[in-house]
Amino acid sequence: MGAKKSPPVEANRRVRGRLVVRGSTRVVGIIGDPVQHSLSPLMHNAAFEALGLDWVYVPFPVKQGALRQALRALPALGILGANVTVPHKEAALRLVDEASQVARKVGAVNTIVVRSGRLYGENTDVHGVRQALRGVALQGSSVLVIGAGGAARAVLVALEEAAVSQVIVANRTLARARSLQRRFSKPGFRVEAFPLTAVNDPQCLSRVRLVVNTTSVGLHGESFPTMAIKASPLDCVFFDLLYGRSTEFLRQARQARREVMDGTEMLLHQGAEAFRLWTGRRPPIEVMRTALQAASKA
Ligand SMILES: NC(=O)c1ccc[n+]([C@@H]2O[C@H](COP(=O)([O-])OP(=O)(O)OC[C@H]3O[C@@H](n4cnc5c(N)ncnc54)[C@H](OP(=O)(O)O)[C@@H]3O)[C@@H](O)[C@H]2O)c1
Repeated sequence: MGAKKSPPVEANRRVRGRLVVRGSTRVVGIIGDPVQHSLSPLMHNAAFEALGLDWVYVPFPVKQGALRQALRALPALGILGANVTVPHKEAALRLVDEASQVARKVGAVNTIVVRSGRLYGENTDVHGVRQALRGVALQGSSVLVIGAGGAARAVLVALEEAAVSQVIVANRTLARARSLQRRFSKPGFRVEAFPLTAVNDPQCLSRVRLVVNTTSVGLHGESFPTMAIKASPLDCVFFDLLYGRSTEFLRQARQARREVMDGTEMLLHQGAEAFRLWTGRRPPIEVMRTALQAASKA
């Protein structure tokens, strides 16, 4: 008699309605602090189940200072990959064995793939922004980016790719906006740095096609500065990277009858791209979107 066959990878994930984790189940997850609020486990586990993949996505709460140990443990534990979130995205870039050109350009890694025991770092936030903005004609336009952290850098890479000609970066800490200006400004892609008060300057909003809020304001109920929205063109789009909540930024834009978008599409597409990198399979976008929408409403 031959050796007993190992179960197929595409095994039925549910037995009597319960999700089953077997000895053969492949593991990926999310590394961050905090990770309890993350919607990524719901989104990815729904996708694995829809495709009948024997994979599971789990949260890994990792404190600042413990990232190196956590990343080294991935291949040791047979974990096939991970998303990386606040506060580890920048540090992860320094700790992976190899990083994509996009991750190096952004200066941060949000997705790790374990390949032959080595850690490959990618930044799929750029893909998420690109997909979220696919319906907005940006070539040759001006954009106002509010905030100058890691997410703002991913937005700038996507805007440069979309052939935007001018970006105004407004940030509470002017030095950080200036640092983005030095890093990204080049002929044909002019980046200018302003203090946060610029969002209430009609001149800054008068010719912009898009305003992106990349700050974490709204996450803990902080108030957002008043924007000179009435000075913006009627077809200006207001895009908040935060998701699952109605922010003061979006409220102001809605009140002025401008088009608004929250960060759900970006979250969906950065996750879908990570899914594709880990599994090599086409991500079931609609299943993932439905899981996110259901979780946001819950
Ligand atoms: N939808 C998605 O898929 C997605 C993906 C990535 C990130 N995000 C969201 O994007 C946001 C930013 O993430 P990040 O990684 O860029 O964070 P980060 O690097 O910590 O940057 C935070 C930014 O917010 C500003 N800020 C924080 N508190 C503020 C306040 N009270 N008043 C004014 N400005 C304030 C900071 O200004 P200073 O420089 O002055 O501190 C900085 O520009 C987070 O809320 C995150 O959830 C969403």
